[in-house]
Amino acid sequence: MTRIKREILFWQAQWLFYLVLFWCRTEAQLRYAIPEELKEGSVVGNIAEDIGLGISDISIRKLRIASESGKQYFSLHQRNGELLVSEIIDRERLCGKSTSCVLPLQVIIEDPLEFYRVDVDIQDINDNSPHFHSDTNIIEVPESTVTGAKFRLETAEDPDVGLNSLRNYSLSKSEYFVLNVKSSKDGTKVPELVIQKPVDREKQSVHHLILTAIDGGNPVRSGTTHINVRILDSNDNAPAFERDLHEVQVMENTAPGTLVLTVKANDVDDGVNGDIVYSFGAHTPEAVQTLFTINSETGDIILSGILDYETSTSYKFDIRARDKGTLALESHCEIRVEVLDVNDNVPEITIASLPQPVKEDASVGTTVALIALKDWDSGDNGKVQLHMSPDYPFKLKPSFSNHFALVTDGILDREKFPEYRIELKASDSGSPALSSFNTITVKVLDVNDNAPIFSHPLYTVYARENCPPGSLLSSVSASDMDIGENAKISYAIIDSKTHTVSIPSYFYINSENGTIFSMHSFDYEKIKMFQVLVQAKDHGSPSLSSNATVHVFILDQNDNAPAIIYPSAIMGSVSHQRMSRTAKAGHLVTKVTAVDADSGHNAWMFYRLVEATDMSLFSVNLHTGEVRTKRSVSEQDDTSQRLIIEIKDNGEPVQSSTVTVDILLEEGLPEPVSDIQQKNTNYGKNNKITFYLILALASVSVLSLMTFFVLVVKCARQGRGGTMCCIRRSDSDGYKNPNRNLQIQLNTDGPIKYVEVLGGDVLSQSQSFGSCLSPLSEFSDFTLVKPSSTIDFKEINVLDASLPDTAWTFESQQVSNFLFFD
Ligand SMILES: *[C@@H]1O[C@H](CO)[C@@H](O)[C@H](O)[C@H]1NC(C)=O
Ligand SMILES: *[C@@H]1O[C@H](CO)[C@@H](O)[C@H](O)[C@H]1NC(C)=O
Repeated sequence: MTRIKREILFWQAQWLFYLVLFWCRTEAQLRYAIPEELKEGSVVGNIAEDIGLGISDISIRKLRIASESGKQYFSLHQRNGELLVSEIIDRERLCGKSTSCVLPLQVIIEDPLEFYRVDVDIQDINDNSPHFHSDTNIIEVPESTVTGAKFRLETAEDPDVGLNSLRNYSLSKSEYFVLNVKSSKDGTKVPELVIQKPVDREKQSVHHLILTAIDGGNPVRSGTTHINVRILDSNDNAPAFERDLHEVQVMENTAPGTLVLTVKANDVDDGVNGDIVYSFGAHTPEAVQTLFTINSETGDIILSGILDYETSTSYKFDIRARDKGTLALESHCEIRVEVLDVNDNVPEITIASLPQPVKEDASVGTTVALIALKDWDSGDNGKVQLHMSPDYPFKLKPSFSNHFALVTDGILDREKFPEYRIELKASDSGSPALSSFNTITVKVLDVNDNAPIFSHPLYTVYARENCPPGSLLSSVSASDMDIGENAKISYAIIDSKTHTVSIPSYFYINSENGTIFSMHSFDYEKIKMFQVLVQAKDHGSPSLSSNATVHVFILDQNDNAPAIIYPSAIMGSVSHQRMSRTAKAGHLVTKVTAVDADSGHNAWMFYRLVEATDMSLFSVNLHTGEVRTKRSVSEQDDTSQRLIIEIKDNGEPVQSSTVTVDILLEEGLPEPVSDIQQKNTNYGKNNKITFYLILALASVSVLSLMTFFVLVVKCARQGRGGTMCCIRRSDSDGYKNPNRNLQIQLNTDGPIKYVEVLGGDVLSQSQSFGSCLSPLSEFSDFTLVKPSSTIDFKEINVLDASLPDTAWTFESQQVSNFLFFD
């Protein structure tokens, strides 16, 4: 039906064309209409027939056609006069968009010449499809675009005209987009893309659509193009963390720079909208920010400080992820860092109270110091033990938790250990265990537990006789092991008596340095030895003391001149003697006798004749003092003879005295015979005395021997300390009555050198042992000189048995005989 209708319409139009052309162009007598694209040789119309020319006339009258444009699309069939298509005609190329397309032809008939004009109307057929310029169109649509927004699309072109031209567009089916075709005033149709539903780039970033253009031809032709709708991102998505909470455990000793963990957030937005910057949450404490740093790009959380379990056992903070969109979006996640304890704290030893000095006599258990232990670690790492060397006289007494008291645990002696440096060691139970050390210094306070000790228990001092009072005699010293006042020593002399004299009145001791001074000059002839008891006393409370003995021996000085006893008791006066003129040479005129109060060498005396009326008549015996005639008296000799005799001692300096003897030579004096007789009788008397002397010596020897045996037996009983045994004898009696005893003096330094036996004899100068009383002697008593100090038993033996080896001196206080055995 539609096809028939179209045909009718077509032909009506053709007819109208003819009419129009006829009127406008009178020359045109023939008009043909052909569709374009006819094949070569297709018949357009029979010109000969249409102009009324017979077939035979075609060749006679030379019918031919000429093209006005020059291009020959048609040809003429010479036999039947049909107009044929000689080339395919494309209306679109020939006429473009113009609605009518007429190719004019001239038909020429020669002979007679006739012109005819033929218009060939090229009619459009739908031979072109609508066409888009580009295969693919890209449309960018912002994600946030509202529904109803329109985006212009490319229009298609169809060279065909009329119904065959472009008629409509259609769009492939899409949930988000629809097509709107807008007709412009000139009738062109413009396709538009309309958003009918919000687009989400994150769901689908590109939409592929196909736009189809269709024409109105029959059959319909179409052309397509791809429409790629790209959704432009808008920052409509916040970053999202993969996990909301991160929990991580970190060892306390983790080194700074270590990666703790990495957080990751994703942002589905594109470009900068999806670029994430990590940072700490807004209110993250300063402490966390110094301990941790976060890499803003990678999300790495790095330890930047030093963790300390003891400061904080855990950290909690937020991490923010923020994109770089213009209106940035952000989100947070929580981080919990748990710090694990490491044994990184050395136990601490604290001396809670300063160590108290302790007295050396402190009882066991006295508290000296309080010690506290501390370990900041927890668990086993914080369990602490305290150790101390067992060598000290102290121990640790645990009190309440981790506190100890250091108490004494033994006897202290400041004199041995004035101070203790006690090493303490604290170790925890961590692995590896940590230890620390501390030293407590405990001072031991002195207690007066040591008495002063003298450097010697017995001091021996020799003091010269006659030394001036105030002379320094000696020094004693004592030391005390204690310190301070307890060691400060005062010296004193203990009140005692020697020979009825009070010792403190003779001696003075410097109480500070122990120097002993004399307070009197000493007289050897009175006191030969002092026994001084010295005490050293410390200033402790109570004070302690000890004693020492000082033996002061007085050394004899030659301070006594020989004293002449005979011939004159009165010194300086002249003694008168008488002598017979008949006396022979060697006659004993008299005997000068002197004594010297000094002892030893100071008491040895020598007699010398200094002056005489006639030196040739008399001589004086150097040792005995006997005055004898050298020759017999002659007639010429004066009746009166004067002799001056000097007696010198052996001391240093020498002391001497002189005696003057006047001798009267008489005629009638008895003969020296009677003198000899008297002498003989005297001899008998002397023998008797000698006998007594020997008897006395023997009895002394026996007594000594007995004493010796008694003491030997005693000593043997007391142990072998023979040298400790000694005899002390009171000597006060000997001094009370010095003239009434026989004295045997033993010198004390070393073996016995001499013994003094007092007595005398005028005539016995040749006697080796023993003495006779001189007829002139007035005394017959013997004194045994007391031993001035302790006597060794050996020496008593010597006295008894070894006489020839020893020097002995027998001395009478009135008449002296010196007997030398050397
Ligand atoms: C002790 O002191 C006295 C008096 O100050 C002094 O003369 C003496 O030399 C001193 N002795 C010692 C041993 O210092
Ligand atoms: C020292 O001698 C005095 C007097 O003889 C005496 O009282 C005292 O006990 C003696 N001290 C010592 C330690 O012997």
